[in-house]
Amino acid sequence: MCAKSVEKYNHDHTVITYDSLLQGNKDFVAAALNEDPEYFKRLSEGQQPPVLWIGCSDSRVPANQITNTNPGDIFVHRNIANVVTHSDMNLLSVLDYSVNVLKVKHIIVCGHYGCGGVNAALGDTQVGLIDNWLRNIKDVIRLHEREMSTIKDPELRSKRLVELNAIESASNVAYTSIVQNAWANGQELAVHAWVYDLKTGIITDLKVSAASANDLSPVFKMNVGK
Ligand code: CO
Repeated sequence: MCAKSVEKYNHDHTVITYDSLLQGNKDFVAAALNEDPEYFKRLSEGQQPPVLWIGCSDSRVPANQITNTNPGDIFVHRNIANVVTHSDMNLLSVLDYSVNVLKVKHIIVCGHYGCGGVNAALGDTQVGLIDNWLRNIKDVIRLHEREMSTIKDPELRSKRLVELNAIESASNVAYTSIVQNAWANGQELAVHAWVYDLKTGIITDLKVSAASANDLSPVFKMNVGK
């Protein structure tokens, strides 16, 4: 791919090019070392992030920047529209590693208003391969059909589906054998659903957190032998 094709303006009105990314890296290293000469040595020794972030791939919702955190603070999995399905080996591997090896204490599913994936799921236009991925969000609409059918305004429908999708994804995290076994073993672990507002930069906690199997729908509680 030629550098020109990725050329565009970022929020500072500087041109992002292939070369400017590498220059940006040099600037990043220089600034970090200026503040702390041991910065990379310390980070290279290991990670112990207390948080797993499951978010949207959207370029405007980077986990670290919007929570004012640093490299080493958050273990991250992102996909289009922060979908959590129980057959996604990529996501399950991230989840298993973060719960059983890193021992994260919080898992946060963060959706965002104005999500293109969620909006596509609300429509009936074929986009391509991604239609199959977005089927998961159409399932969320079907699960909440009664509520969704009462909301007529397109923007409100989109916002509510973003919230419901984050909540259902967080529920799906909690329903995995990985999280249920961690709870059965007495591990401190809470699952949360958040939504980020692109227009204000503000995160809202959707207050559906689960910190034990007792917080789950009985249908999904597993017999973990304890
Ligand atoms: Co999105």
